[in-house]
Amino acid sequence: MAEPTNSVLLLICILFVSATLFLSFRRKKSRSHQLPPGPSGWPIFGNLFDLGRMPHRSLAGLRKKYGPLVWVRLGSIDTMVILSSRVAAEFFKNQDLNFAERTITDLMRSQDYDKGSVALAPYGTYWRVSRRLLSVDMLVAKRLNETAPIRRKCLDTMLTWIGDAASADKVRLGEGIHLARFVFLMSFNLLGNLMLSRDLLDPDSKVGSEFFAAMTGMMEWSGHVTVRDLFPWLRWLGPQGLRRKMDRDMGKAMRIASDFVRERIEEKKIGGDHDRTDFLDVLLEFEGHGKDEPAKLSEKQINTFILEMFLAGAETSSSTIEWAMTELLRDPDSMVKAQAELSRVVGSNRKVQEADIDQLPYLQAVVKETLRLHPPIPLLVPRRAMGDTVFMGYDIPENTQVFVNAWAIGRDPDVWEDPMAFKPERFIGSKLDYKGQHYEFIPFGAGRRMCAGLPLAHRVLHLALSSLLHEFDWEFDGCTDAKTIDMRDRVGMTMRKYVPLLVVPKRRAM
Ligand code: HEM
Repeated sequence: MAEPTNSVLLLICILFVSATLFLSFRRKKSRSHQLPPGPSGWPIFGNLFDLGRMPHRSLAGLRKKYGPLVWVRLGSIDTMVILSSRVAAEFFKNQDLNFAERTITDLMRSQDYDKGSVALAPYGTYWRVSRRLLSVDMLVAKRLNETAPIRRKCLDTMLTWIGDAASADKVRLGEGIHLARFVFLMSFNLLGNLMLSRDLLDPDSKVGSEFFAAMTGMMEWSGHVTVRDLFPWLRWLGPQGLRRKMDRDMGKAMRIASDFVRERIEEKKIGGDHDRTDFLDVLLEFEGHGKDEPAKLSEKQINTFILEMFLAGAETSSSTIEWAMTELLRDPDSMVKAQAELSRVVGSNRKVQEADIDQLPYLQAVVKETLRLHPPIPLLVPRRAMGDTVFMGYDIPENTQVFVNAWAIGRDPDVWEDPMAFKPERFIGSKLDYKGQHYEFIPFGAGRRMCAGLPLAHRVLHLALSSLLHEFDWEFDGCTDAKTIDMRDRVGMTMRKYVPLLVVPKRRAM
């Protein structure tokens, strides 16, 4: 047994020395380039230890010393960090194309996920085709209007769950419910209905609960980077703990998605259900016409596309609603204004409809202010330099990773007055929105790779929050109040509350 251990140790030493030599060679090379300023880092590890548990906050803190464009090295990954709206404007307006690729992490290579993913696709034909499918065939306004009853149905189910919970003795006595969990289940169910015409949360559906378990596992793991990302020269170590968990859950989710797809293909062969056209039908019916376009999407691409919609849409929505409710409970005046607006516009005899959203400026301002302070993907999905590029006078090498810190930009003191305060009023009468044209406010990103699900997310967020406020009054649970509530965040797949919000709903007398 001694011999293999010694040889492994020797190999590690050789690799360590070669990595050090390689990095010092790179450093020398980079000295001839002018890189943006940034903190000096440790050999091998770079600035990894400076990031801490909340990288968006640690990186935002570097602005004071190094300015709004910062250079850090995370293990062996060179990273440019954008911390102000002025630099973000330059990036998205003038350099978007040069940085249109993504960094792909080890975990996202599991089961070849990255090969069918829209969010990670190289800037090319497959990416263009899938974006077009999303924006023209799935999320175009006409199609969204047609699917409004599905959203209403999923929302009503959630309101029933909450209503049942509200009447439980322990909740009436002040024990709170975990609101984000209810919204997460609703969003998940909604995506299942829109994409697959399936109620994945039906308690009788064994496959539905297996799929849910595998997908929530994937969401848990997918926000992490592994040792193999940070130190590619350690790839020989093989998949480690996190990657193994990801392989297990991704494998299971892919298998179930693939069964759904096969079932649908068989159903179509015998001419089943002509009336329904969900996202899966759109994917199966795709026929490429343009130059270089594939004639059909492969089954693998379809399976991955399906998983991606769940990954992209479920947690982002639930974390936004959780933060919105937290901020409203801390600021009762805003809560009163939002509910008064709903009473005025919707009244007491009916439920909120999507068509009401345009008439609810205060509610829209609450959603915007929440996304300004708590963007669910605080560093956006990292971009990557497609080639050597000069950016704001600095020489940025090919493959540099880019973090656009939407969290820091939403608090940029150069553009936001009293940036830390929750004040929905700042958006009243303002044209500022999150559609990617205003670089001081980019919770959905901007440029070519901005969020493809925005039209759906916009409707779900407004409909869910307005329904919760219209149907219920809300209080903190018996152990929390506006002064003591823990406002820390934690980053995984999305940025959510570190300590989940527990709230007590009471049916509103309407
Ligand atoms: C509150 C809800 C959501 C937020 C805050 C959000 C935010 C984001 C952000 C920040 C990005 C990266 C943008 C960039 O790199 O510039 C992104 C990308 C993406 N989002 Fe969303 N998202 C949400 C909901 C959704 C939903 C519901 C879907 C689809 C059903 C979706 C699908 C996508 C896709 C496919 C991409 C990749 C786009 C590309 O690389 O071309 N998102 N999202």
